[in-house]
Amino acid sequence: MSNNQSILTPDTVNPTNNTTNENNQAVRYPVITIDGPSGAGKGTICWKLAESLGYQLLDSGALYRIVGLKAQQAGLLDEPLDDEEVNKNELEDKLEALTKSLKISFIANPETTQIDILVNGALIGSDIRNETVGGYASKVAVFPKVRSALLQLQRDMANDSGIVADGRDMGTVVFANADAKIYLTASAEARAKRRVAQLEQVGQTANYQQILVEIKARDERDENRSTAPSRPAEDALVLDSSVMDIESVYQAVKKHCMDCGISF
Ligand code: DC
Repeated sequence: MSNNQSILTPDTVNPTNNTTNENNQAVRYPVITIDGPSGAGKGTICWKLAESLGYQLLDSGALYRIVGLKAQQAGLLDEPLDDEEVNKNELEDKLEALTKSLKISFIANPETTQIDILVNGALIGSDIRNETVGGYASKVAVFPKVRSALLQLQRDMANDSGIVADGRDMGTVVFANADAKIYLTASAEARAKRRVAQLEQVGQTANYQQILVEIKARDERDENRSTAPSRPAEDALVLDSSVMDIESVYQAVKKHCMDCGISF
């Protein structure tokens, strides 16, 4: 992945992310969005696309995971959100203030070829990559003020290069004018099976039934919230990866991107 400047394309018509070049012409970089639930294979596909195109990768789920983890550490998620006693407006204001206090940056690490995430200068490691933090993320993600506090940061990622954006509302809200949109899904059962296999591969024990319940609870919250619910954009290619291997998914996604005018 690089900040490949050669993909800059002049475009003055309804740009998703516009900036100006040295001649003061409006320019716009290509945007590919991949939305869908956790475990459908978005991460792998986005990584492969970004690498082969030399685009930046935006892992928007990581942003919500960071806010979720910090909110939990600050004691803001101690009460269940459906508790009548919880004052939702007050909680939303606190979550918004917390979100705005976080300085989050994504930095490509050439040594590991991974993206390092820094929060207020400190490196965030794998502690956001578990289902518990995924649950916190999904809880804070229902609040419109949290979502809008993260909006500009996400859009700014597309200012300097092409971008592959991974999330739930990339094609519907954040980059509604994206060049190519994909919604990648899979059955909850297939996703739970993959998650179990992943955990077992790194020597952890995994309970399929428990993972399935957590996945379904998260899907339910992400798909039914009133702001930016997880759903395919009208102009997205919808792919169900339940019985597809990753290479076939990648080829289908690549073809769609090419059909939408992205050159590889
Ligand atoms: O993609 P992920 O599993 O890392 O996302 C974690 C949670 O964050 C997900 O359950 C819902 C929320 N999220 C969101 O609301 N909007 C996004 N664009 C990305 C993630």
